[in-house]
Amino acid sequence: MSAALAEVDHVVGYAPYVHRVPQREGLTRHASGNTVEVDRAAFALDLARRGERVAVVSGGDAGVFGMAAAVFEAAEDPAYAGVAVRVLPGVSAVQAVAARAGAPVGADFAVMSLSDRLKPWEVVEKRLRAVAEADLVLAIYNPASRSRREQIAMACKVLLEHKSAETVVVVGRDVGRAEESLSVTTLGELDPPSIDMKCLLIVGASSTRVSPAGVWTPRFVR
Ligand SMILES: C[S@@+](CC[C@H](N)C(=O)[O-])C[C@H]1O[C@@H](n2cnc3c(N)ncnc32)[C@H](O)[C@@H]1O
Repeated sequence: MSAALAEVDHVVGYAPYVHRVPQREGLTRHASGNTVEVDRAAFALDLARRGERVAVVSGGDAGVFGMAAAVFEAAEDPAYAGVAVRVLPGVSAVQAVAARAGAPVGADFAVMSLSDRLKPWEVVEKRLRAVAEADLVLAIYNPASRSRREQIAMACKVLLEHKSAETVVVVGRDVGRAEESLSVTTLGELDPPSIDMKCLLIVGASSTRVSPAGVWTPRFVR
């Protein structure tokens, strides 16, 4: 990743991520707001079309609720047919939180964003029910924001239709950063007001358990 960043003329992305790329001679950093992903991607593609070398950055893995899909969406415009796009993998929040907790995603798991900014809430509920019914471990991204305060409580209610209140839940907040915290609770005991946009939740399967070494999900199903 740092080798790729060392070779580009421009870095484009949401301001906090762009500012993490050290400034150096010959590099222009373009920071933008949080909700303009496709405009930002088109801006990057315009630069690339003019022959500039451009990196579009995200937190974690750009392919997981990050900028990669927005770049592909903008790149569907035939105007960008000649622009080569390459995606580099990163460590996504589910991997970082899982590693801190133990091995909670050691078996089949699903990944969802709780945000209804890009999809209707009915779709979120339908997918939550399907995941709960299938007894998958579930990693929940975007569980809340300043304006979305109710959804984590609503999601717990849906999950509890099929999952026990004793189901293990890991809450990782700001993992890998100075303010990092990790807690282990249950679906019945989870405190929705304590969850914010810096949290990622891993809701266990029925087999997920807490051992002295940490939280883990057996690879076998009996
Ligand atoms: C827009 S998504 C970006 C995900 C990112 N592309 C990734 O692969 O981790 C933002 C959400 O990721 C999760 N997240 C990102 N960084 C995190 C961290 N350091 N600790 C816990 N959760 C994090 C939170 O759920 C947050 O609301």
